[in-house]
Amino acid sequence: MTVVFTDIKNDIAVITIDNPPVNALSHALRSELSNALEGINNNTKIIAAVIICAGRTFCAGADIKEFGKPPLSPTLPDLMEQMDEFEKPLIAAIHGTALGGGFELALCCHHRVMDVNAKVGLPEVNLGLIPGAGGTQRLPRLIGLARALQMITSGKPINAEKAKKLGISEKVSEHNLLEDAISFAKGADVRRIRDLKVDGSTEEVENFQNKIARRSRGFLAPFAALDALKASMELPFEEGIVFEREKFMELVSSSHSKAQRHLFFAERAATKVDGIDKTTPTRKINHVGVIGGGIMGCGIAINFLSAGMAVSLLEISNEAVAAAGEKIRNIYQSMVNKGRISEEQMQTAINQLNLITDYDGLSNSDLIIEAVFEDLNVKKEVFRKLDNIAKEGAIIATNTSFLDINEMANVTTRKSDILGLHFFSPAHIMPLLEIVKTDDTSNEVIATAFQLAKNIRKTPVLSGVCYGFIANRMSSCYGREAGLLLLEGATVEQVDQTMFDFGMPMGMFTMLDMAGIDIGVMARAKLPNGSYDERAFSIHAVLVEKGHKGQKTGAGFYLYEGKEKKHNPEIDKIAEKMAHDFGISRCRKTTKEIEERCILALINEGYKILEEEIALSASDIDVVYAFAFGFPRYKGGPMHYAEHLGLKYVVDRINEFAVQYGDRWWKPSSLLVKRAKESE
Ligand code: 3HC
Repeated sequence: MTVVFTDIKNDIAVITIDNPPVNALSHALRSELSNALEGINNNTKIIAAVIICAGRTFCAGADIKEFGKPPLSPTLPDLMEQMDEFEKPLIAAIHGTALGGGFELALCCHHRVMDVNAKVGLPEVNLGLIPGAGGTQRLPRLIGLARALQMITSGKPINAEKAKKLGISEKVSEHNLLEDAISFAKGADVRRIRDLKVDGSTEEVENFQNKIARRSRGFLAPFAALDALKASMELPFEEGIVFEREKFMELVSSSHSKAQRHLFFAERAATKVDGIDKTTPTRKINHVGVIGGGIMGCGIAINFLSAGMAVSLLEISNEAVAAAGEKIRNIYQSMVNKGRISEEQMQTAINQLNLITDYDGLSNSDLIIEAVFEDLNVKKEVFRKLDNIAKEGAIIATNTSFLDINEMANVTTRKSDILGLHFFSPAHIMPLLEIVKTDDTSNEVIATAFQLAKNIRKTPVLSGVCYGFIANRMSSCYGREAGLLLLEGATVEQVDQTMFDFGMPMGMFTMLDMAGIDIGVMARAKLPNGSYDERAFSIHAVLVEKGHKGQKTGAGFYLYEGKEKKHNPEIDKIAEKMAHDFGISRCRKTTKEIEERCILALINEGYKILEEEIALSASDIDVVYAFAFGFPRYKGGPMHYAEHLGLKYVVDRINEFAVQYGDRWWKPSSLLVKRAKESE
């Protein structure tokens, strides 16, 4: 299949790249583009060339599927060199997004014309990489070191207006991109970025390193990018390119990049569900009802308001609904203060918010999400009311974290319209949306939920019904081991530091203190005896009894002075007493044991979830844990990390824990055992 087409319009060559879906720079594309350029260079009748892409976007970069395979000639650097040497003015006409190698291709052109809605960026850090086709050497030459540092280490694209301001593009096209690019080409000269000097200093790189140290903790790529950007200043262009290439190749074969690439494809695979495709009908969602104006309800409402939908938020009293409105306004105001949105955008969103105290106000909603108190009877009552007032075809969702959604659906006369939409706190920020299907949820409703997730920019994963679904079910196993470790002799600080060093954003006990220890204690109080390890959560219960519920009360697993946390000596005493009461012997715990107990508990539960078909694939579980709880992306999620450790090793360690601590919780999943055998 041909992917590069050349058309001569008077004396200008138009090279059209057409390699669906996103014009990734595959071997075929590189080869055909290289031939096209050679032909144009040799044709004396042609005075300039325009490169434009067909379909929804300019090039999305190197073909990620080719990474790790032997490089085929011409490689991307070969092609870039050829473009650099091109003797006639070469113009990139950019629409959609020019990303990674796609943007680097545009930087090898002599000029860039951008459609008004186009964006350019170097998102390689998100794949555990640095730009490997000259981006770290050309971009700082074009826009200065400081701005290149920002763009390359953040991976965030910029729009046409900003690109023009920075000098990345010379023209913004508001009407016909190709016509504008051709007319630009007629008067253009040959201007090679490699001939420019970098405006910047070594101190800027060092300062930037300190600036990103916290947010890039554990990642390799952002720091490798700094090295390459430093080289752009210190080395001649030809040597800088070689330096960049070496760093790029090191990263491509690193476990970090493999893990981050795995998540890139996993995130996309999660949206593909058997039985649901483009032909599955979806319902229009313009008006959303939210029940409950707590932190969760308000966060959920913001997602829809920000996506331009109307929201009716229901609370039980005028005071409660006014307080919810105030919360939402405050969150928007802080977004304005941080420069994330404009005052006007805030107003547009808030104007779409309707505060109500009567269920009848939800009768027009296309989707209603309840976020009331986490109690099955309370939720069932809400579902009964909604069944009476919701219009025909409305989708009714619960944001429950743990409860049985089948039971909620069973109290209605419209079981196929019911599902879980599980957001994570803070709901307007956290990227994951667990879509929970009941035994009866229709494909149309599931397809609508996936569409909706896209509209509100969430990463969706489908889960079946079980206690805690995918995310919280796994998390409770990690919480169990963390709690038991305290009884067995580890300290709160030791457990938290170990998991922080593993790459989690924070330790379990810091997280519990932030969320409120009482929430888990209340939830567990409703569970049948024997369904969880009472010993593991015994310290939690004592703390709550004493009113020490975490940060909000100034004491929990830590003591707080403001947000500053300190050791809480009370925990050691409670742990000793509880250990004595339960007959648990205490000893010093190693970092290795703490890490493995927590992580292998996650992995084993992940396999059980897969075995029970609650999750559709292992990669779905990775997406859930990375996007809901910040499992380090450079480790790819618990299931990918299990493969990295070796499944046999994982099973052996779980069996050792079973001998040491009993097999009540440490029974390896049969699917895990099977997969481990297959991998030998
Ligand atoms: N290589 C291979 N496949 C790619 C790809 C790439 N660079 N970019 C996207 N795809 C695939 C996706 O996997 C998906 O495949 P599927 O349909 O089988 O699931 C398909 O293209 C469509 O992608 P999206 O679903 O993401 O489509 P959207 O329209 O939502 O988004 C996009 C389009 C913004 C271009 C988005 O796909 C994207 O961000 N792509 C990755 C961009 C990137 O990271 N580029 C850097 C690559 S590394 C590089 O260039 C190294 C260089 O410096 C040497």
